[in-house]
Amino acid sequence: MKLRSQEWFGRKGKDGFIYRAWMKNQGIPDDEFNGKPVIGICNTWSELTPCNAHFRQLAESVKWGIIEAGGFPVEFPVMSLGETIMKPTAMLFRNLMSMTVEESIRANPLDGVVLLVGCDKTTPASVMGACSVDIPTIAVSGGPMLTGKFRGKDMATSDIWRLSEAFRSGTVDEATFRASEGAMCRSQGHCAVMGTASTMACMVESLGLTLPENAAIPAADSRRKVIAHMSGRRIVEMVKEDLKPSDILTREVFENAIMANSAIGGSTNFMIHLMAIAGRIGIDLSLKDFDELGSKIPLLANLQPSGQYFMEDFYYAGGLPAVLKELLPYLHPNVITVNGKSVAENCRDAECFNDAIIASLDKPFKDESGMAVVYGNLCEKGAVIKPSAATPELMQHRGQAVVFETIEDYNARINDEDLPVDESSILVLKNVGPKGYPGMPEVGNMGLPGKLLNKGVTDMVRISDGRMSGTAFGTTFLHVSPESAIGGNLALVEDGDWIEVDVAQRRLHLDVSDEELARRRSEWKPIDLGIDRGYVKMFIDHVEQADQGMDLSFLKGNSGSKVTRDSH
Ligand code: FES
Repeated sequence: MKLRSQEWFGRKGKDGFIYRAWMKNQGIPDDEFNGKPVIGICNTWSELTPCNAHFRQLAESVKWGIIEAGGFPVEFPVMSLGETIMKPTAMLFRNLMSMTVEESIRANPLDGVVLLVGCDKTTPASVMGACSVDIPTIAVSGGPMLTGKFRGKDMATSDIWRLSEAFRSGTVDEATFRASEGAMCRSQGHCAVMGTASTMACMVESLGLTLPENAAIPAADSRRKVIAHMSGRRIVEMVKEDLKPSDILTREVFENAIMANSAIGGSTNFMIHLMAIAGRIGIDLSLKDFDELGSKIPLLANLQPSGQYFMEDFYYAGGLPAVLKELLPYLHPNVITVNGKSVAENCRDAECFNDAIIASLDKPFKDESGMAVVYGNLCEKGAVIKPSAATPELMQHRGQAVVFETIEDYNARINDEDLPVDESSILVLKNVGPKGYPGMPEVGNMGLPGKLLNKGVTDMVRISDGRMSGTAFGTTFLHVSPESAIGGNLALVEDGDWIEVDVAQRRLHLDVSDEELARRRSEWKPIDLGIDRGYVKMFIDHVEQADQGMDLSFLKGNSGSKVTRDSH
């Protein structure tokens, strides 16, 4: 087979000279250009993405594997997204990052690519970009942090929510709160719970885009380097086999990923990212698929925030292969993965070493997991709740709305002693959807009113068009579509309106007559964001709603790897 890279390096005359000569300033011998598969290592390393800050070392392990297998490794940077650092929200830039990945792969002489991914958005953005080019691709996750240790207790990201509420209510002092920071983030790697980063690592493994065991090996464990090394070896073989994402990512594979995500209690963000990836590879997925396929799957992993343990424990207990083995009766077992083997073959020898962390189908941690998708006049295209992170007693509830028009309005009033709210109220937050707060921030698990926290209230029904951190929990209805900023009925809710939620019936209803809603609509004006230029303007103009994956409409699909114009 003719390698794509030979379109550059195999040329004679001036063009070949130029393509090779400048590469040689890195000390590359001439025979490297004579038909070795050129493998790009697409590196999301950045010191501003702390979860990926160890990726230069990880790339070295990948390079070793590529060289051993006869490939020619070239590492290149792409935009990186640090979840905790970037303002206003890293999600605003997921699609932009995917463009940097896509165009970097297509524009360069690459025959295959290794995606180094870690912090939340770096995984879906990289996979989206790679799918839109569709050359042989393997992903390597950076791995989770070691479990945090603070004053005799384990801790990780989900504890931030508990600690900050305790700090607000005065039961934890500032010195203690501050001291816990370094204890929680004590090693390289991404969040140590089943938050969005770990969910994404499990997603790429269950999609068959990584070698088995990729998801859970801690970043600090030497076996993380081994899997990077082995992935380097494998990508060279994949180029020879011409095994591309489109050969792996069938409809059945997406269904497997949905079921696997339910079994591990993965993040609600999974839905948005999986739909965006499906859109790039041409698979039609809808919110209903997540509910129909995922919501009856038993919870097999006892991991925070839905459960008790951490990613490090998950790895020692057998990791994702042990879960997939247990889940095989539900899965499509014969779909292939990057190593050329089927899911069933890959997990045949997997074992569970700790049944407190990985359960059997006979004795799951919960009979049903996954996401529930609710509909009603408040969310005609759907809203999402993660029942395993919610309070069972609140899953059927009728309460009066306490409305915040924006996140700034919420921040200004949530601790007001005069806020007319009690524990039966329903907190409603508007204008935090894809367009309304461009990027759809993770504010849907809005903290509870200060005066209720002081009374010991720990959960309330919350509704918004925003997202929720994968590390968070609560009875939160998220991703309301259509969002309020484009005139979804969420925009019309007023203080004191009665709202009915009934997760079992998949219902979210605003108890206001159609006539009254029509009257309010006639007076409604969209929020003025004052954004008239740059990437954010493009994002607002083209971003799709949460129920479709929030990609930019013109990025959907695949342009292949061919460069159509060639100036040389
Ligand atoms: Fe990077 Fe949680 S902040 S994974």
